[in-house]
Amino acid sequence: MINEKCLSAPDVALREITADDLLKVANIHVDSFPESALTKLGVESVRRYYLWQLNGSHEKVRAVAAYVKTDSVGFSFSGVFNGSTSGFISYNRNFLIRRVISRPWLLFNPLFRERLRSGIKILRNFTKKEQSKNSVIKRERPKSFGILAIAVSPNHQKFGIGKILMIDAENEAVKCGYDRMHLTVNPGNQKAIRFYENLNWKKLVNGDKWTGSMVKILV
Ligand SMILES: CC(C)(COP(=O)(O)OP(=O)(O)OC[C@H]1O[C@@H](n2cnc3c(N)ncnc32)[C@H](O)[C@@H]1OP(=O)(O)O)[C@@H](O)C(=O)NCCC(=O)NCCS
Repeated sequence: MINEKCLSAPDVALREITADDLLKVANIHVDSFPESALTKLGVESVRRYYLWQLNGSHEKVRAVAAYVKTDSVGFSFSGVFNGSTSGFISYNRNFLIRRVISRPWLLFNPLFRERLRSGIKILRNFTKKEQSKNSVIKRERPKSFGILAIAVSPNHQKFGIGKILMIDAENEAVKCGYDRMHLTVNPGNQKAIRFYENLNWKKLVNGDKWTGSMVKILV
């Protein structure tokens, strides 16, 4: 555990993430999202997920890790992604099938089963054509810049590191000319919702039910 009184913004350095950093990123993800379906499939599945976010044919990717001294303690992936989930599942289909087969007990977990069902649906709808470079070029630039993932390792949370990562993503969005940001959070993740609201993100409610969409208008 770090000493809260000793940590201030200058102690935190941000560095762009490369493929070599992804094992550390995956370990932070596993520690900060212990219940996620991806975590249940093991650290290599998580590493491959973020590798796809770095290497897929996305329009804009900002991937940064936060360091305290030499320790990587948090990360964020933001930008404009094409098929962040469908591309990952499609390009790692056989690997993921083997992972599920080697962990049959996961099928008893209702949350995992739900994620698996939605993963299969996403895979069915996925067409490689959508991932071709031509389709990226033809697509109009969306007006919104997304936060795909943000996490701080549990021992380093509540020291301002998440806020530093969010400010970096926001600066990047402004620099690229976006006037709006979006993200999706699990509606049960009260900790993250409070964190976002603290940073002036607003819930985007469609009808009666809020499904986790949040937006931030950049001025
Ligand atoms: C959400 C998360 C990234 C926040 O990172 P963090 O480093 O702990 O957040 P910070 O310390 O920068 O907090 C920034 C602000 O949010 C507030 N905040 C952070 N955690 C809070 C909590 N649990 N309750 C209330 N406010 C909170 C802080 O008080 C701070 O406000 P301030 O600047 O006015 O003091 C981190 O908790 C995390 O990794 N959670 C697990 C992964 C996750 O859920 N990611 C989001 C998925 S969508």
